[in-house]
Amino acid sequence: MSSKDKIVIAFDLYGTLLSTESIAKELATHFGQEQANKIAALWRRYQLEYTWRMNSMTLYKPFSEITSAALKHALLESSVSLTDEDISKLMKAYNNLGTFPDVKPGLDAITSDPSIDAYVFSNGSDEMVSSSVNESPSLSAHASVFKGLVTVQEIEVFKPDPTVYHHLVRKVGKSFGNEDMASVWLVSGNPFDIVGARAAGINAAWVDRGAGHSGNGGWTDQLGTLASGGPTIIVSGVEEAVKGIKKFMAEDAGGSVAGHNSESVEMGPG
Ligand code: LAC
Repeated sequence: MSSKDKIVIAFDLYGTLLSTESIAKELATHFGQEQANKIAALWRRYQLEYTWRMNSMTLYKPFSEITSAALKHALLESSVSLTDEDISKLMKAYNNLGTFPDVKPGLDAITSDPSIDAYVFSNGSDEMVSSSVNESPSLSAHASVFKGLVTVQEIEVFKPDPTVYHHLVRKVGKSFGNEDMASVWLVSGNPFDIVGARAAGINAAWVDRGAGHSGNGGWTDQLGTLASGGPTIIVSGVEEAVKGIKKFMAEDAGGSVAGHNSESVEMGPG
């Protein structure tokens, strides 16, 4: 099967393959668990907010610098401080993140499937993403599954600018025709990433990480209704995403990107 006929699955990295839970654990060695959880959530919020603000200002700095600045913002806002050494230790923790439990069976299924080309697709720089993938104890075992790591380093703009998703389409060797675009899928746990992918014309499977945890699951992001729709399919994990994408592609043999503002399909187990 030539690359042109394959289904491309591009996995978002932080929050989709890799869980940032260990960051909260590292923070908890300095503060109580409750405050550590709050700081970790604020850190992530500012990390993303900074990328969107940089995009709006047409400025760019590597994601590691954005991440470090966002941590300092979260600490200041929480009226606590850490030494430079502790901050660099926290930044290094990004190279040791663990995978979510559904990642291994999902990636194993791809290894033995010649119809899928898998990529990591992230806001990180080449070095940050490569360290995160190759030094993560649980993800490095699967590093050979990925045909490549697609980062924003070359284009110097962050998700959800459409340039980023079009950069992905180009990097994986697809063209901008409707049929080719329909075979490119983003798998992400980040709603803003899903809406961005759909607005740029590719399909998107949203991993609902809240599903099964304290009843917080479900798609709540409303920007899709003002943009080009929400997730093409909603799944509970990476394994289900791979199954769901294959099922969708088999049923949608016409090969079009699911219609704008169409109802997304919830994939049940199996
Ligand atoms: C990424 C961010 C969105 O990996 O988590 O691109």
